Amino acid sequence: MSNGRTTPSDAHLKELGLGQWRHRDSNEMEESGNEAGETNAPTAGVAGNVEEEKISTTTLTLNAEGRYLRQWRIVRKEVSECVLCELHRTRKNTVFGVGAEDADLMLIGEAPGADEDAQGEPFVGRAGKLLDSMLAAIGMSRERVFIANILKCRPPNNENPTPNEAEKCRPYLNRQIELIQPKAILALGAVAAHNLLDVETPIGRLRGAVHEMSGSGIPVIPTYHPAYLLRRPQGKAQAFEDLMLLCDLLEDLGVSTT
Ligand code: URA
Repeated sequence: MSNGRTTPSDAHLKELGLGQWRHRDSNEMEESGNEAGETNAPTAGVAGNVEEEKISTTTLTLNAEGRYLRQWRIVRKEVSECVLCELHRTRKNTVFGVGAEDADLMLIGEAPGADEDAQGEPFVGRAGKLLDSMLAAIGMSRERVFIANILKCRPPNNENPTPNEAEKCRPYLNRQIELIQPKAILALGAVAAHNLLDVETPIGRLRGAVHEMSGSGIPVIPTYHPAYLLRRPQGKAQAFEDLMLLCDLLEDLGVSTT
C-alpha cells in the first residue's frame, strides 16, 4: 500500500536506523435528555421561534459535551482506584494513557514498565524515545495521538500480561476507544495485536497489513514493539514499512499527518 508519498526527515530516518466511525459528538447530539434523564428536545412545531430553537440546540450540545467529559472523569477515576487484579498490589501508579482525547490515531502497547509505573505515563523510557521518533517519522507527535496499553498496571518483572489481567483491564481500554473513536490503531507488539485482533498469529505474520479490531471494525496495523526494536534493530526497516502503510491508511481516511 506504500507509495512513497511520505517524506520523513533525515534525522528521524537516522533515529530509526534507516539511511468507521465518527464523530464522537454526532450520535450524542441527536440524543435528547441530560444526565438526569430530562428531555430538552427543541419543541418541534413552535414555528417561527428561531431563538428558542437555537437555545435548545445549544443546551443539547452542552449536555452532550457534559456527558462526554463526565465519562472521561469516571473512567479515569475507576482506573486510578482499580483493584480488579493482583497487579494493584505492586503498582506505584496506574498508567491511564496520554494524548488527545479526540485523536484520529491511537497507539496501543503492552503494559507499563518500571519508568511508566514510576511516572504514571506510558512509554516514557527508552522505548518511548524510539516511539517518539517513529511518530515523528510520520509527521505525528504524542500530542496528536492517544497512547494507551493493554494493561494499566505494571506486571512485576515486566512479565507478559496474563489472560486474566488482560481480561480484567480490557473494559477500561474499550471505554477509552469508545470515547476517542479513533480512525485507526497502531498495535505495538504481539501482546497488543493479539488482544486487539483476538488472534494468536505471530506478530511477524500479522505486521505489514491492515486488520480490523474485533468487535469495532476499527482498522488496526500491527507492528513491532519499540522495546523489541531496541533489542533487535534489524526489525526497524519492517517497522518503517508498517509506518508507511499507516500513513497511507490515514491519508485514505482523510487524516492529515503533517
Ligand atoms: N512498553 C509498553 O508496552 N508500554 C509502555 O507504556 C512502556 C513500555
